Amino acid sequence: ADMEKGTYPYYMLKEIDEQPATMRRIISEYTDETGTVVIEEPLLQSLLTSDRIYIVACGTSNNAGWASKQIIEGLANIPVEIHLSSEFGYNMPLLSEKPFFIYLTQSGETADSRQVLVKTNKLGYPSLTVTNVASSTLSREASYTMLLHAGPEIAVASTKAYTAQIAALTVLAKAVGEAKNIPAAEEFDLTKELGIAANAMDIMIAEKTMIEGIAEEYLATTRNAFYIGRSEDYYVSMEVALKLKEISYIQAEGFAAGELKHGTIALVEEGTPVIGIITEAVTAPHTRGNLREVESRGAHTLVIASEELSKKGDQIILPIVHQFLRPLVSVIPGQLIAYYATLLRGYDVDKPRNLAKSVTVE
Ligand code: G6P
Repeated sequence: ADMEKGTYPYYMLKEIDEQPATMRRIISEYTDETGTVVIEEPLLQSLLTSDRIYIVACGTSNNAGWASKQIIEGLANIPVEIHLSSEFGYNMPLLSEKPFFIYLTQSGETADSRQVLVKTNKLGYPSLTVTNVASSTLSREASYTMLLHAGPEIAVASTKAYTAQIAALTVLAKAVGEAKNIPAAEEFDLTKELGIAANAMDIMIAEKTMIEGIAEEYLATTRNAFYIGRSEDYYVSMEVALKLKEISYIQAEGFAAGELKHGTIALVEEGTPVIGIITEAVTAPHTRGNLREVESRGAHTLVIASEELSKKGDQIILPIVHQFLRPLVSVIPGQLIAYYATLLRGYDVDKPRNLAKSVTVE
C-alpha cells in the first residue's frame, strides 16, 4: 500500500505528508518498553571507542548529515565531519586515530558512497550505513546498519528520507551520549521531543494552501531564488534550495547569511526572491539584518521564523521544538514551496529531467 499514490497527485506530496508518521515510527522502532533508546550493542561499543565521526553522503543525504552534526556533537560529544562521497574517496583527508564512518544513503546503492566504503573497509575502519533499504549494497557491506523505517521513497526529490536520517542520527547520538553519561543526552527526552517535532511537522503540513499562495507570489516567474540562514538554518537552506532547483529548475542556492555581502549579494536584483530561515536566537538579528540589506537592493524577501523569534510581517511561522530538532520542522515549508512552484511552472514533480532516484555510477 506504501507504493500507491492513492488520492495524491504526486508521490512527493504523499511523502512530505508521511514525515510525522515516520518520526513516530522511528521512536517506536528504537525505544524499548521502558522508553529507553536502544541501538545495537556492538554498534554502541564501536562508537564509544571512536574519537571522530566521518559522515559520507551525496545530495540530500549529505545535507541531512550537516543538519545532524550539532545533534551528534551536542548529545554524544564526538566531533563530526561531513564529506561528499565523490570528493572524499579520491582525496581522503588526514584521519583521526579512531575514525568511525557513517554512510547516509536513502537507497543504499549510491556508487559514489560505496566506493568510499570499499576503501574504508580495506583500511579496517568501522562503519554504519543509515538507509531506507534493508537489503541494499551499502547495508550489506558496512559493519552496522540503521534503518530509516520511512517506507519506499518514490519521488526523485527526497523528502521523508532527509527528516528520517536526522531522526535516526538523533537516536544514535542520544544512545551514545547516555552511555557516556553526557548531561545533555541524559536530559534529552527523545520520545517526548521527537513527538513534539512530529506534531509541529503536522502543523506546517496543514499550511499547504498558505504555502501554495507564497509559491505563487514569489516563484511563479523568477529565474533564480536564494535561501539564507546561519548555522542549522544555513544547512536547511542548502537542502530546500536543492529541492527547488531539482524539480522547478529555478536556479536556487542556499547561502550562509553572513557570507552574502562577501560576494553573492552581487546577484540580487529588483524582485529576486530571498528567503530567510530564522530559528536561532543568537543569529536571528544578524540574519534579519542581512535580509534588510538585500531588501534595500530590491530583493523580494520572505521570512520563515520560529514562533518565539517571529516578528510582525513574517510570512511563515514555525512551531517551537527542541533546539536540536528545528531542521525537522524548518525544512517542511521549503519542501512544499518547491512542490508548489513546480506545479505552477508545469513540470513533473516526481520525475525531474536529468535526475535519477539512485545513481549507481561514479
Ligand atoms: C540521487 C538522488 C538524490 C539523492 C542522492 C543520494 O542523486 O537524485 O535525491 O539525494 O542520489 O542518494 P542516496 O540514496 O545515497 O541517499
